[in-house]
Amino acid sequence: MNKLIVAIDGPSGAGKSTLSKLLAKHLDYLNIDTGAMYRSVAWAARQQGVDPDDEEALAALCSQLEIEFIRMADGERVMVNGHDVSSAIRTPEISLLTARVSACPAVRAAMVEQQRRLGRAGGVVLEGRDIGSVVFPHAEVKFYLSATAAARGRRRFEELRQKGAQVDLEQTIREVEARDAADMQRTHAPLVQTADAIAIDSTKMTIDEVLEQMLRTIRQKEVNN
Ligand code: DC
Repeated sequence: MNKLIVAIDGPSGAGKSTLSKLLAKHLDYLNIDTGAMYRSVAWAARQQGVDPDDEEALAALCSQLEIEFIRMADGERVMVNGHDVSSAIRTPEISLLTARVSACPAVRAAMVEQQRRLGRAGGVVLEGRDIGSVVFPHAEVKFYLSATAAARGRRRFEELRQKGAQVDLEQTIREVEARDAADMQRTHAPLVQTADAIAIDSTKMTIDEVLEQMLRTIRQKEVNN
């Protein structure tokens, strides 16, 4: 069986993280959450007091960062220079900072290089915004996973509410739309759907249905490639 490169791109909240983890588990592939890599840069910049608008300082920071994904029995961990940052990179403050540092060309160049190194042997699922367009334009399987902003906003709203947060549905949907605009309109590697990507709209689908469709496509390619 051929070990492939699987690219999953799409806006935030479409289910990319959940599905890449499930796919990696089913296929025994490595899961590379590229958003977590940009989040790790933001975390390290904050930790070291690096100005997020100083491209040279960010480039120097990236050259000293070792980002690793470790699969544990109870889930995946993200390690930065030996520190477990899995929870620390998910705070709203780091999300905001990540949107800024990920727009910096030097940061993108450093992360793309690491992603290519991690993925080039195949047997990987990479999820992000520019995997099929920039990181691995020749990936054997490309998915573009989306859902309406209203559906993604509602999912996020339910998630936050379950965690006990006081949130407003309309406000959450507006935040999702603002992130879409930022991801799609930035100058460097904006979120785009490539012509050869298989588009899946998860608005009315369950996770299992999407998983099933993705697995079917990948298994066919594994045999035919
Ligand atoms: O998928 P996520 O929410 O963890 O992504 C965090 C941020 O990183 C988000 O602002 C988009 C950005 N990102 C990116 O620019 N390129 C990627 N390949 C992945 C994420």
